[in-house]
Amino acid sequence: MSKLSLDRILQSQGFGTRKYCRALIEDGDVIIDGAPATNYKTTYETDGLVLTVFDEEWIYRAHLYLALYKPANFECSRKPSHHPGVLTLLPEQFTWREVQPVGRLDHDTTGLLLMSDDGPFIHAQSSPKRHVPKIYQATTEQPITDALVAELLKGVQLHDEPAPLAAVSCIARGDHQLEIVLEQGKYHQVKRMLAAAGNHCSALHRSAIGGLTLEALGIAEGEWCYLTDEQLALLAPSA
Ligand code: URA
Repeated sequence: MSKLSLDRILQSQGFGTRKYCRALIEDGDVIIDGAPATNYKTTYETDGLVLTVFDEEWIYRAHLYLALYKPANFECSRKPSHHPGVLTLLPEQFTWREVQPVGRLDHDTTGLLLMSDDGPFIHAQSSPKRHVPKIYQATTEQPITDALVAELLKGVQLHDEPAPLAAVSCIARGDHQLEIVLEQGKYHQVKRMLAAAGNHCSALHRSAIGGLTLEALGIAEGEWCYLTDEQLALLAPSA
């Protein structure tokens, strides 16, 4: 439980600078419990607080934990250079809150991307010591053979890696469709592993992280949603 002044609350939720938030409040643009809250010094219990700002309802959240269905041709980088950044798919307030992608997907990879403004959460999720399986659906240029599957399961040597990297699981889902599960998150890992095994990845989609699947989230390409505590628990590392 914590109480904060209204201007600090609005600022913490990404509505802008303290000065701008005070102006919003004094202009009557912030509604709490059905009435304009016009004194920025008034303190409110933040737990469960619901604010209406410019007719849109926002629940106070100390931190943001989001899932985005990343479309192709969006970059995860903070300073995108060739395509729009994934942050452009979220409400503007989230940029003010410094929401970031948890790990990265290539600009042409689609699928499940976690996003948050909680530094320790991002750090913990991205740690190489954390063995959370990530499930990818890869489309390959050459047909998938038993030998390819065996090689990916055994491990392939990538440049700049001290030891071979192996898939946790690898299943042919069609002549050119491979479901591959990885526990590491190295740069271009799926594409590089396929290339090292003599094939080429022509399209890549991440369908799940741990037990959290895009299908269960039910969001369409380009859409995002808040993650519940139950959904976050599905990101726990495998035993
Ligand atoms: N592996 C890749 O090669 N690219 C991604 O975007 C994710 C995993």
